[in-house]
Amino acid sequence: MPDKWTPPSQRRRGIDLAALGIPPGRYVHPDVTDFLVSPDGSREGGARIQACLAGTASLDTLQPAEVDFIRQHFLNAAEEQRQKCIAYFESKVPRRYASARPSAIAKAWAQAVVTNPDATRSLLIVGPTGTGKTHEAYSVLRAIAETGRATGWAAYTAADLYARLRPRTGRDSEAEFEAIADTDVLFVDDLGAAKLTEWTEEVTYRLINHRYEQCRPGIFTSNVPPIQLRDVLGERIASRLTEMCERIALKGDDRRKGMAA
Ligand SMILES: Nc1ncnc2c1ncn2[C@@H]1O[C@H](COP(=O)(O)OP(=O)(O)OP(=O)(O)O)[C@@H](O)[C@H]1O
Ligand SMILES: [Mg+2]
Repeated sequence: MPDKWTPPSQRRRGIDLAALGIPPGRYVHPDVTDFLVSPDGSREGGARIQACLAGTASLDTLQPAEVDFIRQHFLNAAEEQRQKCIAYFESKVPRRYASARPSAIAKAWAQAVVTNPDATRSLLIVGPTGTGKTHEAYSVLRAIAETGRATGWAAYTAADLYARLRPRTGRDSEAEFEAIADTDVLFVDDLGAAKLTEWTEEVTYRLINHRYEQCRPGIFTSNVPPIQLRDVLGERIASRLTEMCERIALKGDDRRKGMAA
């Protein structure tokens, strides 16, 4: 809680980015000394822009050239942020899936996630081995990066996740669990690929249950046929996944066979 509560009517508001058609973000403000002299020779433009940036005046107090100056600044800043998100994604995506490009469905899901994460259901991508589940999941993560919104994401295979979270001396695996469980968008690949032990089932349950309770969106893949999900993952996990996920079923042959030399 802040020390002192301020009624909403007295809170200082920043510039209305939405009115300028700029996606939300934490952008550096323009240097108004670049606009000290308006095209008409007056020096008042800089002060008017400053007031708008501080949120003490509205955009309608500005001349068209001043609005253009601000809009152009924030458009450039938004594009810079988008390029950074894409560069970060490209530095993390496994090389095999670097060429995965988002479909219209992936783009729509990404847009929903960045604008309204709590109300967006997770994705459960299912299908037999080699049908493109991991490829599809990375294309969705690329779509999130391409929105340019600073949404955090992390990707693990279930097996790597268990290896990472296994208690070890000198490592706070509980803190690590919390950091992973709280990621904005969490991708867990290959759920149920190996038989769950009591410990892996408990970790999976805690992770899925945390995401379920907090309504946090994620992407899960599994090659377990939906009808066997309860047997393989256990009732509690399968039941939550069913409620919290949209299912994408990939069909067809193992693509890897077609690629064999
Ligand atoms: N839509 C696609 N376009 C081009 N190549 C694809 C596409 N989908 C998958 N591939 C390629 O097919 C191969 C298998 O895809 P992927 O690894 O995603 O399958 P999977 O369903 O995750 O398999 P597994 O169940 O074994 O994990 C990979 O080489 C991948 O790059
Ligand atoms: Mg895979």
